[in-house]
Amino acid sequence: MIRCFHVTKSYGAITALTDISFEIDEGEFVFLTGQSGAGKTTLLRLLYRAELPTSGQLIVAGRNLATMPRRQVPRFRRRLGLVFQDFKLIEDRTVFDNVALVGLAVGFSFTESQRRASELLRLVGVDGRAQLFPPQVSGGEQQRVSIARALMTAPQLLLADEPTGNLDPKRANEIMRIFHAINRSGTTVLVATHDADLIGTVGGRTMILEAGRLVPPLMSQ
Ligand SMILES: Nc1ncnc2c1ncn2[C@@H]1O[C@H](COP(=O)(O)OP(=O)(O)O)[C@@H](O)[C@H]1O
Ligand SMILES: [Mg+2]
Repeated sequence: MIRCFHVTKSYGAITALTDISFEIDEGEFVFLTGQSGAGKTTLLRLLYRAELPTSGQLIVAGRNLATMPRRQVPRFRRRLGLVFQDFKLIEDRTVFDNVALVGLAVGFSFTESQRRASELLRLVGVDGRAQLFPPQVSGGEQQRVSIARALMTAPQLLLADEPTGNLDPKRANEIMRIFHAINRSGTTVLVATHDADLIGTVGGRTMILEAGRLVPPLMSQ
């Protein structure tokens, strides 16, 4: 699902990632961890092609990101589900609309968008909140809504950047259980977190970044 060959990313004099190589197979659940500033967000941004590597090759969901024309980026992104620490919900649209609007944006019919939104809100356990606005529901519920939204396109790969960073440990564990269930249904999941307590709660492999370099697997065990 992901192949990363000798990827380096620099911002001027700052090198955020140095010579990163790894593979993630279809169906895996992987944690990307490391201290703040280690390069986790930068690596995810490369994977969803928010940025291009300075050098190296990246293949994600069957696409070579370095050679993909810019006009194909939106279609590529539909293969991915993205979840962020700050939820990024539209505050003046209902919970339901936040999810359903994605369906319309990617070309599902109105009826299909509504049907999928209902189904996904039920899956993440916030169907009772559908007609409220994001500021009227808790942080844990807002994150569930953002997960439902991320699943709207039935992504092959779910990328989450510090998805539990704004949540207390109980809500964080609930979110991890939802990711685990999504993974069991066949979606590859990559969760970036600096929170060592989350790792191991739902199994899965762990990759560790240290100052922009991947710690070799044998050393990390
Ligand atoms: N757009 C940018 N411009 C300059 N430096 C950046 C930029 N994005 C990230 N960095 C630097 O890259 C390093 C890794 O950052 P980041 O990927 O956000 O780490 P993490 O998510 O693990 O906390 C940091 O030193 C950060 O300051
Ligand atoms: Mg980060």
